[in-house]
Amino acid sequence: MKKLNVAVIGGGFMAKAHSMAYACMPMFFWPAPAIPIRKVIVDINDKAAEEAKNKLGFESYSSNWKEVINNKDVDVVDICTPNDTHLPMAIEAAKAGKHIICEKPLARNSNEAKEMYEAVKNNNIIHMVAFNYRRTPAVALAKKIISEKKIGKILNFRGTYLQDWPADPNGPLSWRFQKEISGSGTLGDIGTHVIDFARYLVGEISSVNSIAKTYVETRPVQQSDNDTMDIRVGNSDAERAKVDVDDEIITMLKFSNGAVGSIEATRNGYGRNNYLTFEIHGTEGSICFNYERRDELKVMFANMPSETRGFQTIYTGPAHPYGEGLWPIPGLGIGYGETKIIECFDFFTAIKENQQPSPNFEDGYIIAKIADSIIESSNKGEWIQI
Ligand SMILES: NC(=O)c1ccc[n+]([C@@H]2O[C@H](COP(=O)([O-])OP(=O)(O)OC[C@H]3O[C@@H](n4cnc5c(N)ncnc54)[C@H](O)[C@@H]3O)[C@@H](O)[C@H]2O)c1
Repeated sequence: MKKLNVAVIGGGFMAKAHSMAYACMPMFFWPAPAIPIRKVIVDINDKAAEEAKNKLGFESYSSNWKEVINNKDVDVVDICTPNDTHLPMAIEAAKAGKHIICEKPLARNSNEAKEMYEAVKNNNIIHMVAFNYRRTPAVALAKKIISEKKIGKILNFRGTYLQDWPADPNGPLSWRFQKEISGSGTLGDIGTHVIDFARYLVGEISSVNSIAKTYVETRPVQQSDNDTMDIRVGNSDAERAKVDVDDEIITMLKFSNGAVGSIEATRNGYGRNNYLTFEIHGTEGSICFNYERRDELKVMFANMPSETRGFQTIYTGPAHPYGEGLWPIPGLGIGYGETKIIECFDFFTAIKENQQPSPNFEDGYIIAKIADSIIESSNKGEWIQI
């Protein structure tokens, strides 16, 4: 079986999720499309990189991403660093002819995302952007039900992504609150996952009318060497610095196929942890999903007998998308890790079959254009055509 050497750049939260997926993918999906080898991990300095190597099971480490990307032994470049670094790393990897998986959002804005898409488009490489939530089996099942026209023509998409980890104004100033690094705030961080759901499940978005708000204007600067999202590390006595990104976005949507919809995303929704949801209404039924109950998909078909009419709950399992690789009976529970294992399986399958996966850099670029339009609409107070 073919082996592919992976270089992961960045040794933080996403590196942990991706490294676990490289180790586990063949255990779930056997025969695997290829065996991922955790060849080299890169972080900002040697100390951080060595620690990541030991923790995440890599053969070697480095603090020089350019050298690693151009290492002839590396087949796959996996970009798990903050958003301001995605463009130079992806362009270098495209030039070096390496397959690329890049964390979302693809870039800080659509200009950068376009440049990245142009760089990969004409090279013979496979590229993917890591919107992993669509790999949740219940979400893939919703896609199947919609594609089979079981809820008819789609009328409305209503999506939310609500969190509260930084709702406290004394939560530390992570890179996620600095436009120079992140590009945007809640919008790029979590809103883009809902945009991905909307495009995946309903179709292309043609225009938006939006509001973006910043609630917490300053935050305590980071006190530790490592950037953290942990509110417990916040220090209300520390010097504060400006937050220059959105905390919340609300947008109405028009789709090219005539459907309408809305997205709400906030990181100031006290009581909500990872409340990523959608409800979709069609002419012949409805579908409802909440990631906090990710094994379940609620469906309602209009032709149900009136006595038993209402939402039914499907627990995903072997009969559903990716079921053959996951656990043997419904209800055992899948988690965030499994979405990354499935993402890894789809990415390695795409490399094996030499077919671009979805979502790829083109999708990442379109999502970046929609995100830019949401901010533009909020600034101008009017509908923006994508
Ligand atoms: N798909 C998802 O669900 C999801 C969830 C969280 C984050 N993300 C995305 O993943 C990316 C990384 O986020 P994270 O949460 O892992 O961040 P993080 O802060 O936990 O980790 C980033 C790591 O990159 C390292 N780094 C920074 N600049 C570097 C450079 N120039 N060279 C080498 N290493 C460098 C940092 O030292 C750190 O170890 C972001 O684009 C983010 O939006 C995606």
